[in-house]
Amino acid sequence: MAVAAGFALAGAGAEAALAQSAAGALAVVGDAIPVALTGANAYVADPLRGREIVRNRQLGLCLLCHSGPFPEERLQGDLATDLKGTGDRWSDGQLRLRIADSSRLNAATIMPAYYKIEGLTRVASAFQGKPVLSAEQIEDVVAFLTTLRN
Ligand code: HEC
Repeated sequence: MAVAAGFALAGAGAEAALAQSAAGALAVVGDAIPVALTGANAYVADPLRGREIVRNRQLGLCLLCHSGPFPEERLQGDLATDLKGTGDRWSDGQLRLRIADSSRLNAATIMPAYYKIEGLTRVASAFQGKPVLSAEQIEDVVAFLTTLRN
């Protein structure tokens, strides 16, 4: 199917294609996704790249809603929690689900689902079948957030 083929072509690897399987299902256990979206051992996540994604206004856009330990950023959001201390509050699996699809935990959330393909409406054709962030980018963001301590 097109979604799985897209992942394979994007070089995310067969395991990632399987993780986001035919049903578009994320491997959710409780309130977490314990296994990396990139598949076991496939990718070494980089917290510095993750920080850049979170800060970046074109990529993560997280600071539209959140504030955090980003002294260089003048405008930060106040619609959601300060990301400071995130690594003390959540495990990497819990963070993975919250970034991938926080609507699983709060159906009314305003936080975008960064790794969801199925069930979206009003998606521009250029973006159909593509998550907002790649599996690798999600893993970088999770790696960064776990470094944030109080
Ligand atoms: C449009 C606003 C918005 C954007 C953009 C957004 N979030 Fe959120 N986020 C929220 C809201 C609101 C919550 C509170 C929980 C809820 O509503 O489900 C939340 C919750 C969270 C949580 C759990 C926070 C806690 O400690 O309770 C984390 C972690 C998080 N967001 C990280 C991110 C990251 C990383 C990005 C960017 C990749 C991002 N968010 C983008 C609105 C947003």
